[in-house]
Amino acid sequence: MDPVNLSEFEPLARERMAQQAFDYVSGGADDEISMKENRAAFARLALLPRVLIDVSTVDTSTRVLNQDISFPVMVAPTAFQTLAHADGELATARATTAAGTIMIVSTLASHRLEDIAAAAPGPKWFQLYCYKERSVTQELVKRAETNGYQAICVTVDVPRLGRRERDFRNQFTLPPDVVPRNFEGVADLAGIDPAEHGSHLTAHIASLLDDSLTWDDIDWLKSITTLPLILKGILATEDAKLASEVGVAGIVVSNHGGRQLDGVVTALDVLPDIVSAVGDRVEVFMDGGIRRGTDVVKALALGARAVLLGRPSVWGLAADGEAGVTKVLHMLRDEVELALALCGCPNVAAVSSELVRSR
Ligand SMILES: Cc1cc2nc3c(=O)[nH]c(=O)nc-3n(C[C@H](O)[C@H](O)[C@H](O)COP(=O)(O)O)c2cc1C
Repeated sequence: MDPVNLSEFEPLARERMAQQAFDYVSGGADDEISMKENRAAFARLALLPRVLIDVSTVDTSTRVLNQDISFPVMVAPTAFQTLAHADGELATARATTAAGTIMIVSTLASHRLEDIAAAAPGPKWFQLYCYKERSVTQELVKRAETNGYQAICVTVDVPRLGRRERDFRNQFTLPPDVVPRNFEGVADLAGIDPAEHGSHLTAHIASLLDDSLTWDDIDWLKSITTLPLILKGILATEDAKLASEVGVAGIVVSNHGGRQLDGVVTALDVLPDIVSAVGDRVEVFMDGGIRRGTDVVKALALGARAVLLGRPSVWGLAADGEAGVTKVLHMLRDEVELALALCGCPNVAAVSSELVRSR
């Protein structure tokens, strides 16, 4: 049966993917409390719609970092998309371009960032993991610039990898044909024994990512690129303030889909404080648990400019390649349009904090 909502893509993905790969995508850290809380936080918030407003046409478009997008949803960076489908990031790029929004390409993509840029002309940001070897980081940034990426989204919540116990249990190993193609020759996983580290990915991160990164390094990153920087993985208001002081263009309020520190606050819960602390000095995005058009409207009502969609796009990819991601994005766009209409909002700008109440 065809899925009628985003969550229904998950069982389809489970059918189509190897169990190890499915668990890697759908799992979270430790007891998966934060992963579940990300959904619960949306359920705790109620909408308070207005009526008798002309919604005969509803405009879902918005603007992020001076780029028009068709609806306030971007595709989150997710690593190793060829685990879900052979076309991987190439298919996601085509579907995202067709849907008129931005794809954020992971450092750990399983296609080269050049090939992903060439696959579809739509706007893309590059998600950056900072490597101990500064020249590796610098080279990635340069390649992203050369290939037309419009922003660098630096992930700041992974000094180490969260303890993803499904992956430990499965001794998750990337299949031989799934490799981080951005660094062939640089970050060779061959010879790493997943049993020693719990999972292949934990080993990669532990051996190569820079866990000594500080705010000073954000200054360094600013100095090596002309592209706007976005910091992904902010939860504390103090950190959001520091981000605005250091002069980044945006932040993604995120707990990494519950895949890093378990038991943390949800992005939705901390969003209002962060938005009021940073004002309009930085653009504020959020992610974690977006599954419905109404979730998107709730996040906008709490002050997010746009949201990022993680697992559902990978489930769509697993279900039916490019067509599956397209279905997911169109379904969510239609839901956003309906939610806006039923809230009495003819456009995104009409969404205000008056539209939500805690239950
Ligand atoms: C399979 C998978 C891989 C991910 N890989 C990355 C990554 O490489 N870089 C990154 O910053 N975030 C990564 N994330 C986190 C997402 O960007 C995003 O924060 C999270 O998935 C949002 O929650 P959601 O899945 O509930 O929508 C990954 C998430 C998943 C599910």
